[in-house]
Amino acid sequence: MGKCYPTVSEEYQKAVEKCKRKLRGLIAEKNCAPIILRLAWHSAGTYDVKTKTGGPFGTIRHPDELKHGANNGLDIAVRLLEPIKEQFPILSYADFYQLAGVVAVEVTGGPDIPFHPGRQDKTQPPPEGRLPDAKKGSDHLREVFGHMGLSDKDIVALSGGHTLGRCHKERSGFEGAWTNNPLVFDNSYFKELLSGEKEGLLQLPSDKALLDDPVFRPLVEKYAADEDAFFADYAEAHLKLSELG
Ligand code: HEM
Repeated sequence: MGKCYPTVSEEYQKAVEKCKRKLRGLIAEKNCAPIILRLAWHSAGTYDVKTKTGGPFGTIRHPDELKHGANNGLDIAVRLLEPIKEQFPILSYADFYQLAGVVAVEVTGGPDIPFHPGRQDKTQPPPEGRLPDAKKGSDHLREVFGHMGLSDKDIVALSGGHTLGRCHKERSGFEGAWTNNPLVFDNSYFKELLSGEKEGLLQLPSDKALLDDPVFRPLVEKYAADEDAFFADYAEAHLKLSELG
């Protein structure tokens, strides 16, 4: 599956492959997979299926969008990636950030996510307020992901992105990691979620909401028990997210 973008030139495709290697190197050197994945997600997750606005079109690098409250700290990711982007002027930022998100998952041990180039950069940032609020529950998650055109299964699978990284008090007001191995992409997010709150680890209200919902919870249980099932559904959901619009 996947979207049908216009075919890119051979030169463009070669730049994608070479850029992928550079991104692997940068992410290994700086241990920055989590914030890069967050950048790719926040770039895509503003898509609104009704108005066909927002989405993974490279606008997140503009100060107007970076200053949205939900994007606190993502200027760091934009800055980290810029020296690589400069080496590949042929690539759109839209493709570049989504490629970086796919590489962040791959190099930390997660599933391979197909990447199709061909997104074109847009200039108009989306309005603020389209990304989820961590203090809210399942109705809110359904509403926000519904605007993107994503399903209940996508919500749970993509929430597994919190297997990477952590919250920073100065960025979101929350502090701490979801798992004990925040630089490894595995199914430990779901295992920790089911095992309850623990000293030193964090669960956001929006994470805990997955436990109380009759549709979400069985998926949490499935992914905690079966990492292959999580990887398969995550790869499908991430591909959809990266190709919104
Ligand atoms: C379901 C709704 C979601 C909510 C409410 C949410 C909320 C948050 C919050 C509050 C942070 C902490 C930011 C900071 O303080 O640095 C965070 C971090 C993160 N989020 Fe989410 N998130 C959601 C979904 C996702 C999805 C779908 C992905 C990717 C597929 C994702 C990937 C990440 C990653 C990797 C980090 C760690 C960033 C770092 O370590 O710098 N999140 N999220």
